[in-house]
Amino acid sequence: MGNLRRFASLLALSACLVATTGHASGDSGHLEDSGIDPGDIHSLQRGARNFMNYCSGCHSARYVRYNTIGKYLELSEQQLIDSLMFNAEKTFETILASMPTDDAARWFGKAPPDLSLMSRSKGADYIYNFLTKFYVAEDSATGVNNLMLDGTSMPHVLWELQGYQAAIFKTHESEDGSVTTTFEGFEQISAGLMNAEEYAGFVRDTVNFLAHIGEPIRSDRRKLGVWVLMFLFFFYIIASMLKKQIWKDVN
Ligand code: HEC
Repeated sequence: MGNLRRFASLLALSACLVATTGHASGDSGHLEDSGIDPGDIHSLQRGARNFMNYCSGCHSARYVRYNTIGKYLELSEQQLIDSLMFNAEKTFETILASMPTDDAARWFGKAPPDLSLMSRSKGADYIYNFLTKFYVAEDSATGVNNLMLDGTSMPHVLWELQGYQAAIFKTHESEDGSVTTTFEGFEQISAGLMNAEEYAGFVRDTVNFLAHIGEPIRSDRRKLGVWVLMFLFFFYIIASMLKKQIWKDVN
């Protein structure tokens, strides 16, 4: 009976593990890799600036305090105030959108979601793809649609940087009359201030910052990992010296 129960709980545990890993990899199979580096402080600093300049007008990050970001990103209080705090007075305030949620919902038909935990719910790769895959769509109220979120009400707020691109779709009609549409690629129709590579870098930094606020401990884990490896290395040296010492007389 005891064995059976242990077996059942082991089974339940492995089912949980499978479920969580399944969730983590999610349906990101077709997504372009964001390539973010959570340990790159400069990328995080640029991402924070991008977020404040281009996103915080509509989106809040209300679980995040300015001074927490300042500390992680190694910014002085003055740098924090000068370069990030447009919507707040005090460094302990959280990041609120400049636009009231009710107005935003009325204007866009949908309130811009809080972005504090967006990287956790949708994944960093998803956000990277979302921000790079806006394309012109005449029939949309914002003039654009998005490959990741069909019919999205978010305007292409980064169009000045990326320029506009058109999406090329092909429709195939099979013999039984059913029609399928496949996405073939993008075609740049107007240039932005950045070339494709620069824009990808800009989005990567922004997504890096969003992933960071979703899980600030990530950067710490990296640093901790280095210490652990260093400790193991020195421990190995000491252990081998000790071994030599102990076996000296026997040999
Ligand atoms: C002009 C207002 C506005 C700005 C500025 C803006 N957004 Fe949005 N955003 C929206 C709206 C509205 C939605 C809801 C879209 C929907 O659900 O169709 C949204 C949705 C999103 C989503 C969720 C997408 C999903 O799949 O549910 C993400 C991620 C996002 N925005 C990221 C950003 C980032 C990053 C920036 C800055 C580069 C930004 N947004 C700037 C209005 C804005």
